Amino acid sequence: MGNDLHELLRSLRVWDPAVTALPDFDPASAPADPLALFTTWFAQAVAAGQTEPHTMSLATADEEGLPDVRTVMLHGADASGWSFATHVDSAKGRQLTARPYAALGFYWPVQGRQVRVRGPVTAAPAHEGQADLHARSTGALAAALTGRQSQVLDSLEELARASESAWERARREPDAPVPTWTLYHLRPDRVEFFQGDAARRHVRLNYRRTGDGWNQDLLWP
Ligand SMILES: Cc1cc2nc3c(=O)[nH]c(=O)nc-3n(C[C@H](O)[C@H](O)[C@H](O)COP(=O)(O)O)c2cc1C
Repeated sequence: MGNDLHELLRSLRVWDPAVTALPDFDPASAPADPLALFTTWFAQAVAAGQTEPHTMSLATADEEGLPDVRTVMLHGADASGWSFATHVDSAKGRQLTARPYAALGFYWPVQGRQVRVRGPVTAAPAHEGQADLHARSTGALAAALTGRQSQVLDSLEELARASESAWERARREPDAPVPTWTLYHLRPDRVEFFQGDAARRHVRLNYRRTGDGWNQDLLWP
């Protein structure tokens, strides 16, 4: 069985020309602020047909400093930072309370692009988190209402019962509060843009926050 996995791995390629078109990226013409470049790259990922470009890896560290990672949705990127939402009492929520610092990873294979974002994280005021939730789908509200995220679940039947009543409430009460649901803002002090290159001369542009602006460095790939 193990050999099957190795064979499969050997048969796979990244940036198959049938899927990927690697754009040229000239770091000399990059904007001074990484938010502007992220906004451009995000729109280009959507235009290039990248599926789910708004999903990202969110890395946190636990109380002991050990890393953890999972996928979450990007809710926004603006002057407040890069935003995502989750339960404050989930594993990641507790990790963020103990160590309010995180990293985000985006991978957009259709263009061979990666973006990494690191920095301190703050919880938005409760009313902003609730407004963000209530602007989303009924399913998002039902999922949030189901709650108990990352706790041990006794059975799928128990989940089905809790989810059914959460869906029923979400339909009946579209503004139902979910006190644990929290919007977080990551204010980056590093943002790195990676543009893949067919000859492996990948371009890496790393922004580092200074007092009132940003430094830019190229990095060896
Ligand atoms: C595509 C995708 C999007 C997700 N988006 C979110 C999200 O926005 N917020 C969230 O709390 N969990 C989201 N999840 C679930 C998380 O990956 C994770 O399973 C859950 O939040 C529990 O993580 P934790 O135990 O580290 O707290 C998403 C999962 C997938 C696969």
